[in-house]
Amino acid sequence: MDETSMPDQTTETAFTDKGLARDLPKLSVIGLGKLGAPMAAVFACAGYRVTGTDHTADLVDMVRAGTAPFSETDLQSQFSQAGDRLRAVYTTAEAVAESDISFVIVPTPSGPDGLFSNHFLLDAVSAIGAAAAKKDTYHLVVITSTVVPGTTGTDVLAALEASSGKCVGGDIGLCYSPEFIALGSVVRDMKNPDLVLIGESDPKAGDMLEAVYRRTCESNPVSRRMNFVNAELAKIAINTFVTTKISYANMLSGICDALPGADIDAISAALGADSRIGPKYLKGGAAFGGPCFPRDNKALSAFAAHLGIKAHIAEATDALNMDQTDRLVRLLEANHEGPANICVCGLAYKTDTNVTEKSAGLSILLSLRARGHTVWAHDPQVQQRDITSDLTSDLTLHSDLETALKGADALLLMTPWPEYQDVPQKIVARKNPLTIIDPWRLFNADNFEDGVTYIAVGRP
Ligand SMILES: NC(=O)c1ccc[n+]([C@@H]2O[C@H](COP(=O)([O-])OP(=O)(O)OC[C@H]3O[C@@H](n4cnc5c(N)ncnc54)[C@H](O)[C@@H]3O)[C@@H](O)[C@H]2O)c1
Repeated sequence: MDETSMPDQTTETAFTDKGLARDLPKLSVIGLGKLGAPMAAVFACAGYRVTGTDHTADLVDMVRAGTAPFSETDLQSQFSQAGDRLRAVYTTAEAVAESDISFVIVPTPSGPDGLFSNHFLLDAVSAIGAAAAKKDTYHLVVITSTVVPGTTGTDVLAALEASSGKCVGGDIGLCYSPEFIALGSVVRDMKNPDLVLIGESDPKAGDMLEAVYRRTCESNPVSRRMNFVNAELAKIAINTFVTTKISYANMLSGICDALPGADIDAISAALGADSRIGPKYLKGGAAFGGPCFPRDNKALSAFAAHLGIKAHIAEATDALNMDQTDRLVRLLEANHEGPANICVCGLAYKTDTNVTEKSAGLSILLSLRARGHTVWAHDPQVQQRDITSDLTSDLTLHSDLETALKGADALLLMTPWPEYQDVPQKIVARKNPLTIIDPWRLFNADNFEDGVTYIAVGRP
């Protein structure tokens, strides 16, 4: 089947009926990583029999033992609740043989050109196809990994048909259906999406997948069903639009830094009250980071260039985000002459996770070190093993805030952990002057004693 023969009209339905728990299809999840493990557990808690598999045997072992393989809010309780409805096996062949629908959630890493690589995805799909070839019942393959538009209907579909010997839209179905989650709230986000996005080879495949979501979602999400390429572009568009809001607010916050009397919080409150704009992601804070957002604008811009189109907004959003580190370094150095002893508070890319990938805290730490400052860090959840950068193997990383603050000339509050509300109490009766740079504006200047220079970024 080619892309042009797929449904091209977006259909919209609302989920209203959970139906009965009998005759449920069996599910498999290929890739038990940060997204796949929670997804397998959430499906099992919704009553499905789920078989997970992963190339990493340790992950399979942990799932078999009923242990959540990652630190993620509510994940262990989902594993406990799932009980024997959730199993794990060591091969894709076994997982496919034991299921009717396979969800593929393997990495699609960014290549040097900014586009996502399909290497892991095509390997996984070929293994599913080879296993599906041995089945005499219909099998549905759902791609959840983030892909470049055009991938599912071309390379993925071809790999599936070649390995299975079956025709997509006939004995085998194919959907592209990404999740909209943030680490730290994956379980909640999976159960309560605003939107279920389904790119489908044919209505039978889409109906089967929509029924799974109808049962799993506790919210009443809108379902948008369309062809593959529209769903693939919609996924990247949603993510990049959110980052554009973040960069827009950070741009305004930068203007506020230089404008006497200006206050980003007052401006964001006004912007967010307009229903055409909405209040989410307009705080004005540190740069966005993590495993998804930073790479999505690069991918959109590279993909558009491939089509001969310039994605100006994606490029500006990315450039503004990269500028945020320099902006904070400039603020610090304008308020502290010469090399400083600096404590970076918060290395996680957001609260409620220990993931540091492309985090604002890690980025500023590396930049300050390169400029000759002495830098150490504090984070309530991140441990040394969570930091993937080779440049930080000698980093001093504290989990106790009081210890971390000792001897610092400056603090940078990079992740707005609730623990940082205690900073004013932890620095009373200090002998040395201290500069605090706070892009999240957690405090009032009145919270601090003489000798503390408190810089609420975006509120000069
Ligand atoms: N983590 C997020 O916040 C997030 C959010 C939205 C979308 N995504 C997308 O989801 C996909 C997966 O992300 P993740 O964070 O779960 O990645 P991850 O690296 O945490 O997990 C992926 C897992 O897949 C396994 N794997 C690779 N090839 C395999 C194969 N052929 N068979 C079985 N297992 C295989 C790996 O061993 C790994 O455990 C990516 O495309 C990512 O862009 C991630």
